[in-house]
Order: sequence, then structure tokens, then C-alpha cells
Amino acid sequence: MGLKRTKTCGELRAADADERVVLGGWVASRRDHGGIRFLNLRDRYGVTQVVVDESSPKEAHDTAADLRDEYCVAVAGTVRLRPAEMANTGQATGQIELAAAEIEVLSTCDPLPFAIGDTVDAREELRQTYRYLDLRSGVMQRNLVLRSAATAEVRAALTDQGFLEIETPTMVRSTPEGARDFVVPSRVSPGRFYALPQSPQIFKQLLMVSGLDRYFQIARCYRDEDTRGDRQPEFTQIDIEASFVEPDDVFDAVESMLARVFACCLDQTLDTPFPRITHREAMDRYGSENPDLRYELPLVDFGGVAGKTDFKVFRSVLDGGGVVKALAVSGDGLSRARIDALEQHAKAQGAKGLAWTRVTADGLDGGIARFLGSVAAQAIEALDASPGDVALFVADGRQTACQSLGAVRTALGAELQPDGHRFCWITDFPLFEWNEDEQRWDPSHHPFSMPQEQDLERLDTDPGSVHGKVYDLVLDGVELGSGSIRIHDRALQERIFALIGIDRDEACRRFGFMLDAFRYGPPPHGGIAFGLDRLVMLMAGQPTIREVIAFPKNTAMASLMDGSPSPVDAEQLAQVGLQITATEDDNGQV
Ligand code: AMO
Ligand code: AMP
Repeated sequence: MGLKRTKTCGELRAADADERVVLGGWVASRRDHGGIRFLNLRDRYGVTQVVVDESSPKEAHDTAADLRDEYCVAVAGTVRLRPAEMANTGQATGQIELAAAEIEVLSTCDPLPFAIGDTVDAREELRQTYRYLDLRSGVMQRNLVLRSAATAEVRAALTDQGFLEIETPTMVRSTPEGARDFVVPSRVSPGRFYALPQSPQIFKQLLMVSGLDRYFQIARCYRDEDTRGDRQPEFTQIDIEASFVEPDDVFDAVESMLARVFACCLDQTLDTPFPRITHREAMDRYGSENPDLRYELPLVDFGGVAGKTDFKVFRSVLDGGGVVKALAVSGDGLSRARIDALEQHAKAQGAKGLAWTRVTADGLDGGIARFLGSVAAQAIEALDASPGDVALFVADGRQTACQSLGAVRTALGAELQPDGHRFCWITDFPLFEWNEDEQRWDPSHHPFSMPQEQDLERLDTDPGSVHGKVYDLVLDGVELGSGSIRIHDRALQERIFALIGIDRDEACRRFGFMLDAFRYGPPPHGGIAFGLDRLVMLMAGQPTIREVIAFPKNTAMASLMDGSPSPVDAEQLAQVGLQITATEDDNGQV
């Protein structure tokens, strides 16, 4: 056997001078200064400079001369202090170098498809195809190290709080979380299928029926839905459920877990408790269910002032029962062209337009100023605006007005490049959403969430007005987690199924085992699940969850590295009793 590693490339310091060590790693860079060769040797712990000079034997020089980038090598040698002027203060090992006595090439490396460095700038397709090389970059290694550390702290925090880590199956009957299932054919029972779980929802509720009281799982979930920056077909949840709890108990458990994760992994102190905002308030004030609280930019109700003008656009909306929402922002750099671009943003969310005016020392100027002349002072007060600001307005039904101006707020906020992290809870969600296409009520979260007591009497007459004990956790404008207090009453659960168009037979077929379990003393219970990928993405300051998943899928739900999904051979299909009736052509058309 050849050289065996005794130290990593990140740990040698001045105090180790004169020690004989063996490092293993990859050749990150080489420099040849006529007779003296320098190598940077890299592993996941850091980089150490190796020197091959007059103190090194001829064999080491010969081997060094043939090295290429990303060869995997072992180097034996003596740790040497660098001359003061050669020290690299930007590197943890910058005080020393390793004088090579022996270099062993452990494996060579073909020409690389892209350069490997601290950051990544190769094309996404290449990165995914050669993911194992992409993961050698400094940033990807830091992301995965952070993910591992965060996962470990989550486990420790929840275990310390008395939660049991319990695995639930990943070959199951369908769980309704609103996406399509991935299905797995059964060989033993041809024509039957397992579903991959969209979440452990039903199983964790059954664990509560079992009396296991406090459960968590770092659970892999599978959803056949369009892949976007913050969605993957398989992803990981931190899944939590507890018995005899109210929302506040769930919030406390989660806040204390997250405070520990941020303190241990990022050395950041979170302000707890996190703000709690009702869904209605979030829509009114921020125009979003996922408000980014790193900046304020509140939406203002402008109906009171608008009602005193005879600006047709405002008048007709107000007379029709709509609202006028406004947003005052700093006018710096807010050109006409930019306002037009923001208007397109608002229109994409259904607004009919985006009215605007500038606030000056003397009043209002430009845009719709001429329609507000008589109420300028009141308008400026209502907007809480200062000279130099621009006020933006949308008049429409409440939902459209809030959502579209909210989209404008988000676009403006992103330009502020806010830093730090701000969590908030969004509470009191409506229990149902009207599905226009299917002409029926859909659960806004999933069908197992408990309605609020005071709304129960309107369950059948006015489902749209019923709120649920449903909450989301939002971090920096991203939905991080969702949860609720659950229904533990079989009759109420059946009523909710009926309301969302799942009749008795279907309910029995799909959820019979759960309804049966509820005959046997189910405790009141509730919980939450977070996207671990999204949490780590935000902690790492990365733009997509792909950057914190070792082997992600692309937007076509494919892995360019292993070529999945792939055809299976005829024999495998026959075994599970399947026949292929549709295939994709070379252009990806079915
Ligand atoms: P929900 O469906 O809201 O709730 O999911 C919870 C959290 O999981 C993350 N998430 C995803 N992350 C990456 N890719 C995806 N495709 C994806 N889908 C969801 C999000 C989301 O907030 N069983 C319930 C939770 C409960 O009620 O306890 C559930 O799964 O961060
Ligand atoms: P119009 O009279 O339709 O040309 O609109 C005059 C201005 O009001 C334009 O800047 C439009 O973008 C804006 N506007 C039109 N409809 C609305 C609306 N519902 N809410 C806010 N602004 C609007």
C-alpha cells in the first residue's frame, strides 16, 4: 500500500512546522518557477500549498512535472513555515507549506468539462451532467456541509424537546397534498400500484392515534408537479406532529428549534417569538401570503381619500364595492419606464392598470395628480409619504388589488437587496378555496385541517367564510412550512370530505383506514412540515433549492447525470403486467 493520509488540507498551522505528514487531495492549481514547483492541494477541509524544490528528490520533481488539474494525489513531506513575505493571510493554512518528499498519483483526471473553483459559473446543463465534479466546487461543498449541520441540529433540537424520530413508509396509498402521485407498479399484484408519499401526513396522524404523542421525521416526499426554482419532484420535509396541542405549542417548538439551528449553523440570533400575522392582515398590508418582512413598504387603504375625488377609475371601482390600494415608495431611480414595467407586473396579477403620481414639496405632480388636486394633503397623509416619493395605486376587487400591488411591492423590495433573515407566522387561513375550473371547493391546505370553532356553523351555508386552524411559516418571503390542528372527529372529517366533493364511497376507498382509526380514541393533534431544502437554500443565500440538493432533477424532472427517467426492458414490464402505449419522440413530444 502507498501513502496513507495523516492530515487534511485544511488543518496545518505554523505550530505544525517540522512535522512529517501525508496529505491527500486534488490538484487545484500548479505553478512552475523554473526548478521550483508549487501545487495547491485541495480537499473538503481546505487548501494547502505543496512545494517541490531543491529539498525534494528527483522522483518527486518528475511526478510533479506530469501532474494535471484535478489529479488525485497523496503527498508526503515536511511542514515548513513560509517566509513572512510569502504568507497568505487569506488562507487558514497560509502560514505554512508542505515540502514534498514523495508524491503518489492515486488517479489521473481527463480534461475537465468546466473549471473547478470556489464558485460555479458553468452552464446549468453541464453542471447537472457532471454533478460529481460540480460538487467539488467550494460553494457546493459549503452548501452541503451547511445542510448536514442544519439537519443534525434539527434532529438534536427536536429530540431534546421529546420528539421521537419515526420512519413512515415510502410505498403507500395516495396522500392528498394537491399534486399528482408518482406510482410504483406491484409485481406480486399486477395491475396494482403503490404511490410514493407526497408527505407522511396520514401516517403521522395515525402515530398520534397510537399515542406516540410527539413525532418528527426528516422525510423524503414525492410530488409529480411542475418543477420550479423552489420545487423539486423529490424533496425533504422536516415533518412534525404532536398531540394535545394548540397552534401556540407548535409555534413554540418550531421557534426554539430554528433558533438553535440559526445559532449553531450561522451564529445568528433569531428574535423570538416570530411575528404572527393573520392571513387577512398579510393580504391587506403586504398583498401576499408570503410577505418578505425584511422591508416594510406597507400597502395602504386609499379608498377613504379616493372616494372624495371624481377620478373615474377609482370611483367606478369603489361604487362597485371594490377597493383602492396604494403604495408609497422612494422615487429615486423610479423612471416612467420603470413604472411602466411595474404596471406590467401588476397586470400579470390581474390588475387593470397601475396609477401613479409623484409627491413634491408642494403637493402632487404628474400621473394622476390632476385628479387628486383637491385632496392632495389628505392623500399624502394617508400614504405617509414624503417629498420625492412616488405613490402607486391599484383599484379593483380586494383580492386582485392586494395581490397585484403586492407583486409590485415584492418587485421593488427585491431591488433593496435586503439582508438578514425575517420569519413570520401567517395564521387563520381560509379553510377552502373556490376552484373555478372544477366548480367546487378545494381545501386550501389539505382536507385534514380543523375549522375554527366560531366558523363551524357556516360550514355548509358559506364555506368560503370558514377559517381553519391553519398556519404557514414564512422566511424572507418564501413559504417555508405549513401546518394545522387536525380534525380528530370522524363525523366532522366525513363532512369536510363531502364538502370538497369526496363522497362517502370514495372517502372509504381512499381514506377508510384513517377514518377507521378515528373510531379508536384519536387524541386532538396538530403539526407542521417544513421544506428542509428551502430552509437550507435561504440559510446559504442560494437562489434555488438545486444548489443545496446533492443530486437534483432539472426543470423537465430528469437527471442529466444518470439519465433517469429511462425506459425499462420488456421483461421488467411484463413482470408487473404493464404495456407501454405512449412514448416520447426525440423532441420530447408524447
Ligand atoms: P405542504 O404541502 O405545504 O404541507 O408542504 C410543506 C412544505 O414542504 C415544502 N415543499 C416543497 N419543497 C420542495 N419542492 C416541493 N415540490 C415542495 N412541496 C412542498 C415547502 C412547504 O411549505 N403534510 C403537510 C404539512 C402538515 O400539515 O403538517 C404538507 O406537506 O417548504
Ligand atoms: P386609463 O383612463 O384607462 O387610461 O387609465 C389612466 C391611468 O390609470 C393609467 O395610468 C392606468 O394604468 C391607470 N389605471 C387604469 N385602471 C386602473 C385601476 N383599476 N387601478 C389603478 N390604476 C388604473
